[in-house]
Amino acid sequence: MNRKAFSNHPRAWLAGVAVTLAMAGWTLPAQQAAVDPQTAVNSAFNQFKTLSEGKNADYIPALAKVDPNLFGIALVTVDGKVYTAGDFKTEVSIQSISKVFTMAQVIQEQGPDSIEKRIGVDATGARFNSIIAVEGVKVVQGAGAPEMNALVNPGAISATSMVTGANADAVWNKILGTYNDYAGRPLTVLQDVYKSESDSNQRNQAIGALMYAYGYIKTDWRQAVDLYTRQCSVGVNAQDLAMMAATLASGGKNPATGKVVVDAGKVPGILAVMATAGLYDDSGKWLYHTGLPAKSGVGGGIIAVSPGKFGIAVVSPPLDDAGNSIRAQRAITAISNALGGNPYVATRR
Ligand code: DON
Repeated sequence: MNRKAFSNHPRAWLAGVAVTLAMAGWTLPAQQAAVDPQTAVNSAFNQFKTLSEGKNADYIPALAKVDPNLFGIALVTVDGKVYTAGDFKTEVSIQSISKVFTMAQVIQEQGPDSIEKRIGVDATGARFNSIIAVEGVKVVQGAGAPEMNALVNPGAISATSMVTGANADAVWNKILGTYNDYAGRPLTVLQDVYKSESDSNQRNQAIGALMYAYGYIKTDWRQAVDLYTRQCSVGVNAQDLAMMAATLASGGKNPATGKVVVDAGKVPGILAVMATAGLYDDSGKWLYHTGLPAKSGVGGGIIAVSPGKFGIAVVSPPLDDAGNSIRAQRAITAISNALGGNPYVATRR
């Protein structure tokens, strides 16, 4: 290795070594990570900017039209420092990442039991829009908490139905208000995505109707599916997503605005569901390599949380077969490993 390629300063050289090892799939123990976050972000951006694997989601027609070359990275530390690269200001639809924050809203207002008892906190082992998973959950009903979670479509539509409000507008304002608080700025719906998804969401309507029929949704299931569709269409950029993740990393306090969005004691449960099901049936693989609670969306975003350290987000639309952005998975893994983000890494005493 050419030391000069990095710097003559020993600490900068060590940083370069750490990034190189992380790129090669090695994980450095947290206490050895001497990498400057901007160096790690830049290195991952350069390493993966030419990667062209995967394909945009196309079952929602508007998503197929998004530029597949879009690639933005943002990392926000719990003390509010922001590190970015690439197209970090370009908005995509939040899609399934929204599920985390609607679940968090319900947990904040109605307590952790509300989600655990009504929806469950277990992996389904099935795809995010599996109807077979709905049939499975029906079978175990009555035998304890449901074998489902609020991060797959049936559980997410049910969670949206649990947000209280006098009418659809009131519920929507609460959902969007929560997202705004996590992001630290007012977000808006991408109307072209909302229309495209509303025109093509028959499968989610079927899921909503089934969840109503089986007693998981107790209010108007059509309204729940519509609000769920709207929440998935909210526009966010990588920096918004990283701020949302950083709010969870800092125990529920937005590091930029200082607003407490969710009680610190409720955050571990939210992160546990993300660790269990955030990347759907690939959640185990993801956790094995990163240790990070995370959530993906078919718009191409992934957020990940290193508790007490940072939130990170990458936006890159091409997805793998499980529906997770390929470049986002690679970039987050490299950056987090370079920075010692894995919460399972412990120092021997
Ligand atoms: O319900 C859907 O199909 C989309 N609105 C969201 C799916 C999604 O993002 C799955 N994520 N990887």
